[in-house]
Amino acid sequence: MKVAVLKETRSGERRVALVPQGVQALVKAGLSVTIEAGAGEASAVSDEAYRTAGATVASGAAETLRDAGIVLRVNPPSLSNPDEVSAIRPGTILLSFLSPLSNLDLVRALAAAQVTAISMELVPRITRAQSMDALSSQATVAGYKAVLLAADHLPKFLPMFTTAAGTIRPGKALVLGAGVAGLQAIATARRLGAIVEAFDVRPAVKEQVESLGATFLETEHEVTAEGEGGYAKELSEEQHKRELELIAAAISTTDIVITTAQIPGRTAPLLITEDMVKSMRTGSVIVDLAAESGGNCALTKAGETVVAHGVQIFGPSNLPADIPVHASQMYSKNITTLLAEFVGEDGAVALDFENDVIGPATVTHAGEVKNERVSQALQASA
Ligand code: NAI
Repeated sequence: MKVAVLKETRSGERRVALVPQGVQALVKAGLSVTIEAGAGEASAVSDEAYRTAGATVASGAAETLRDAGIVLRVNPPSLSNPDEVSAIRPGTILLSFLSPLSNLDLVRALAAAQVTAISMELVPRITRAQSMDALSSQATVAGYKAVLLAADHLPKFLPMFTTAAGTIRPGKALVLGAGVAGLQAIATARRLGAIVEAFDVRPAVKEQVESLGATFLETEHEVTAEGEGGYAKELSEEQHKRELELIAAAISTTDIVITTAQIPGRTAPLLITEDMVKSMRTGSVIVDLAAESGGNCALTKAGETVVAHGVQIFGPSNLPADIPVHASQMYSKNITTLLAEFVGEDGAVALDFENDVIGPATVTHAGEVKNERVSQALQASA
């Protein structure tokens, strides 16, 4: 069966869904791989490197997709370019980030086109599926890059320096939300020599934060909201107030703040008010990784940089694209491991919806919406 890898069309995207190592793995599994010319260019992968790995390089999306049974992408097909969905043949398996709970028109279009769409966001967070978990791999990249972005724009050093020109005190970082991205942000800020404080509403995280050399902010009264599947849920009003007090007390002496707090399927919780921003030192930097889901800071604008009260507030929408080589390498590994769930050694494809990864991750198949949460979201929007 032919696997097609398309050049990403989203503005600013530099990742690619499959790197040459992934091509080799799929060819070994009995699949043939066709890459759209130039697809790897922004990730430092030449067409020649793909050919050497065993792929065919085709010119243009239509040629790449011809007779393909499986299509690999990073970003969802765009609805503003109708060809991105209609060019996929009925019965084709599409593996991609799809944002299926918020991108309902796309789900309808994929169902109508009879595409079997597997959403990278819906791969379950179970131990067995860790190597297929693209949310985690890309959050790792984002957490790392967020600290570099903040450090780059901070008019100060982060590490301590003892020099003939005097001693420089280390900078202070605050990380709000210590999930995958937050823990990587803590580790990166520590590597840069910052003093790091962190907070999360899941108490289980305290130990992980401390093991990275950061201080977990403690409250006199408990602020916890552990939800299903290890995720957070919304705090009660009283607890949210306590959390805001805790953050307000820490933020005025902080140089960089990385926020990553998210609640699945909800708007991101508000953790930094305008008054808190006012209390911060001039030149401080906030990087809000929850910008796309509403933002953790009241002044964040998704995809933009705001300067308010002397504080720079970044709301990046796609930080993994800024480290495309390793982000693509990790995504490619996630994809090839996921493919191995339904591709046999001879390249034969057998989708089993009873499979504990494929079942939950499949959004549409044979004209129907398979995932219950997505079906509910569609019904609610009708
Ligand atoms: P996420 O991106 O949904 O949220 C980021 C963080 O924000 C979470 O740690 C959450 O607790 C925190 N948060 C939510 N509301 C907050 C608030 N009001 N204040 C402060 N923090 C708040 O989560 P992510 O990073 O995708 O994953 C987090 C969970 O998923 C963890 O339990 C992690 O262990 C689990 N996980 C499990 C995996 C596996 O077993 N295969 C793989 C990846 C994650």
